[in-house]
Amino acid sequence: MQPPRNAIEAVTHPDPWPFYRSLRQERPLFFDAGLGLWVASSHAAVSAALNHPALRVRPPAEPVPMGLQGTAAGEVFALLVRMTDGEFHAAHKPAVAQAARRWTLADVARAAEDATDDLQPRLEVNDFLGVLPVQAMARLLGVPEELRDDTCRWALQFTQGIAPGAGTQAVALADDAAAALMAQGRALGLQPAQAANRIAFMQQAMDATGGLLGLVALQLAQDQVPEGQGAAADASQEAMRRFVREVERWAAPIQNTRRFAAESLTLLGQPVEAGQAILVVLASANRDEALNPRPEHFDMHRAQSRSMGFGAGPHTCPGAAIAIEIVATSLRSIRAKGQFDHYFGACTGFRPLPNARIPVFSQ
Ligand code: HEM
Repeated sequence: MQPPRNAIEAVTHPDPWPFYRSLRQERPLFFDAGLGLWVASSHAAVSAALNHPALRVRPPAEPVPMGLQGTAAGEVFALLVRMTDGEFHAAHKPAVAQAARRWTLADVARAAEDATDDLQPRLEVNDFLGVLPVQAMARLLGVPEELRDDTCRWALQFTQGIAPGAGTQAVALADDAAAALMAQGRALGLQPAQAANRIAFMQQAMDATGGLLGLVALQLAQDQVPEGQGAAADASQEAMRRFVREVERWAAPIQNTRRFAAESLTLLGQPVEAGQAILVVLASANRDEALNPRPEHFDMHRAQSRSMGFGAGPHTCPGAAIAIEIVATSLRSIRAKGQFDHYFGACTGFRPLPNARIPVFSQ
């Protein structure tokens, strides 16, 4: 098998881990001229990039992507904590994090179980991966039953339309979806920033949690893990959570994120020029010995495991505990019904995405 040619190809490569290891060991932060990006792969480089105040989540010259400017989808984009830095981010992130903490694990488990019961019988497995977390979030957000399917579709259309490289048709659908979802927020009495970040709860849940769900299913199915850890995971909800957390660290559904230099700076002794971008390879940092002992080894029983897979620094994911609970509950429910092997066919590859590693299953 040919190794991946670069850190973007690695996202969908069957075995990117030796490539990531060689990056960490030989050039933990380097400029990849082919990609036109700096690539940070060691724990130290990833951590430094995510905590540097002049490294921003958007190119400073283009806070909203060109194709979205002047659209309702662009207005929502500009209000997302995920897409903003500085004062706006500092003012709104605490409320978003607090909003994510309002649900108990029992609330999340109930929403995930009900969403699984509703969706698994009517969706093929690859659609299920993305819709399940969105519907679970919609239930938590109190979306009424008669609006649930429309709301999930709008969240999907919004996500697809704001993705880099989205076509005119996708942007138009995202625009309508953004208007409909913002109207929902307004009807609940939310301010625009609150309404936009309510949408983000569904949008951010989609690919990342779909990827986590798929990667955990893959790991359970292959049962290649030592000492029957797949069976151990079935013992209890807490055991399944441990298994999900270890898959998150080990396989990293969000393999990378990006940062953009607002000014010239020095990162780990290297000169990064204003306007340059950095590919921050979270998946590689997770396999760094500086983060955990025996990092290449899958072990759901590891003590005090650390992961960069949910990000670090000011933009750390506020949905980590929710995502783990959704995945653990949904998979336990499908396994308890005896439908796991039938539902998750063989893995035939990964969706062609530059950042998320989402398995594709045969049906
Ligand atoms: C219920 C599911 C989820 C919700 C509601 C959620 C929500 C969010 C939100 C609102 C942010 C933006 C935070 C900020 O910029 O300050 C974020 C960031 C992030 N999330 Fe999640 N998330 C979910 C699942 C996941 C999963 C499963 C992963 C991967 C394992 C993940 C990885 C990340 C990462 C890496 C970031 C930071 C991106 C960056 O710094 O560039 N999220 N999430």
